[in-house]
Amino acid sequence: MLTDHLPRTSLAFLPTPIHEMERLRERLGPSCPRLLIKRDDQTGLATGGNKTRKLEFVVADAIAQGSDVLITAGGPQSNHCRQTAAAAARLGLGCVLIASGERQPKQTWNGNLLLNHLLGASVVFARHHSREEMMQSIADDLKSKGRTPYVIPVGASMPIGSAGYVAAVEELAGQLDEMGEMPDTVIFASGSAGTHAGILVGSEALGLPFAVEGIADGDDVEELRAKICDLVKETTALLKLDLQIPDEKLVLHGSYGEPGYAVITDDDVRAMELMAQSEGILADPVYTGRALKGVFDLIEQGRWGVDETVMFWHTGGSSGMFGRADEIMASLP
Ligand SMILES: Cc1ncc(COP(=O)(O)O)c(C=O)c1O
Repeated sequence: MLTDHLPRTSLAFLPTPIHEMERLRERLGPSCPRLLIKRDDQTGLATGGNKTRKLEFVVADAIAQGSDVLITAGGPQSNHCRQTAAAAARLGLGCVLIASGERQPKQTWNGNLLLNHLLGASVVFARHHSREEMMQSIADDLKSKGRTPYVIPVGASMPIGSAGYVAAVEELAGQLDEMGEMPDTVIFASGSAGTHAGILVGSEALGLPFAVEGIADGDDVEELRAKICDLVKETTALLKLDLQIPDEKLVLHGSYGEPGYAVITDDDVRAMELMAQSEGILADPVYTGRALKGVFDLIEQGRWGVDETVMFWHTGGSSGMFGRADEIMASLP
């Protein structure tokens, strides 16, 4: 195993299932490729998602360093924050979450923001401060009170976080082998670089033939590409792999995030609706709905032949939709 030498804490229900999406394929018309889905929305930790895999390695590192409180940051509806709060609860650690922006005067405690409270995390709004500076100053304050804090960067997108997705690709390779399947493309939502970097490093290290393609969640595409590139190198170094991944293997679809991060459009909601109504699978409006919008558009453009197989790696996040319910309803017919 590529990640065996790293400390790891079991948090997820693994392996996550893989299955075919025949009804969705039918709905997408006669030229649609075969569609598989890997269900990381079912990792199990307080409604699951991709961060649980990263946190298995990150939280193990925190514990190895004697930490007793996790600090991290994200948007108010961050799935990463919710899974970090759940991991902290499960392991008896404290948790402080920095939510970007202002607390609204009539703040509604819903979606992940509600779950963070239920899970016992302290939530602090960053207001006009940088989230990174806030995390550091809260860590310093906790240290002065005798605590041992551990700061997790946004999205747990750090080399040991990406190692979670290298391990996930090993899991995937074993499942594909058993199923006698090999997709032509594995495609997923890409936001803070960690999932994308891990899947790319894992598939290259194992020599898997499929294309690895991310769909950017926002419009800072070049920044995200550079971050993935750096994290690929750092993760490769962490795992002591002798790999040179050529630039053209880093495929990031940029146009679907153009409306801007977390700006919900009718097309994002339409993609969520199509997935829900043909497979009974919930996506979220910020990451996986947007990624599905991209997948459906690429299918419509004839990007894959009817004999090819595309695997959508579902990264979770549906609990975040309850924080945006009115906007989603407004986009539904
Ligand atoms: C549901 C969901 N999918 C995908 C992503 C993107 O993953 P990454 O940040 O590792 O690129 C996120 C990030 O928060 C997420 O919450």
